Amino acid sequence: MELIFKLNGEEVRLSQVPGEESLLTLLRERLGLTGTKEGCGVGECGACSVLLDGKVVNSCLTAAWQAAGREVTTIEGLAGDEDLHPVQRAFVEAGAVQCGFCTPGMILAAKSLLDQNPDPDEEVIKNALAGNLCRCTGYHDIIRAVRRAGKLLRGETS
Ligand code: FES
Ligand code: FES
Repeated sequence: MELIFKLNGEEVRLSQVPGEESLLTLLRERLGLTGTKEGCGVGECGACSVLLDGKVVNSCLTAAWQAAGREVTTIEGLAGDEDLHPVQRAFVEAGAVQCGFCTPGMILAAKSLLDQNPDPDEEVIKNALAGNLCRCTGYHDIIRAVRRAGKLLRGETS
């Protein structure tokens, strides 16, 4: 099938996309966007999280054709030419990255949350990130990073 969608702000047109191909496979193998990670492959770890029309989805469980006519955002689409996105910056500043495998999905889940709720409390953050597993950090610094990202996005400096 032919597939047309928006990816990180640019229109993408692809032909001969098999109906059973996942969005994860399409992004990583066809388009070379390897920032989206494959962990479990069955919807349990969140490493493959991307935004579909601004909402977090597991790209391993999303068929590529489901992106037709919609907007997909991957981690590659967040930073500007010169600057990291504030959520990326907050993760660096809070030391919330160790091996980094979960980080793209965590950051996209955090961005989706903060787009809807710019000042979430800890419980809300935990719920929003419940589908994203991290084997390294113990989550404390990730939650701190999301709170810091909220401050940066709200223009608070401290
Ligand atoms: S790889 Fe998709 S949820 Fe784990
Ligand atoms: S930083 Fe290693 S899995 Fe989260």
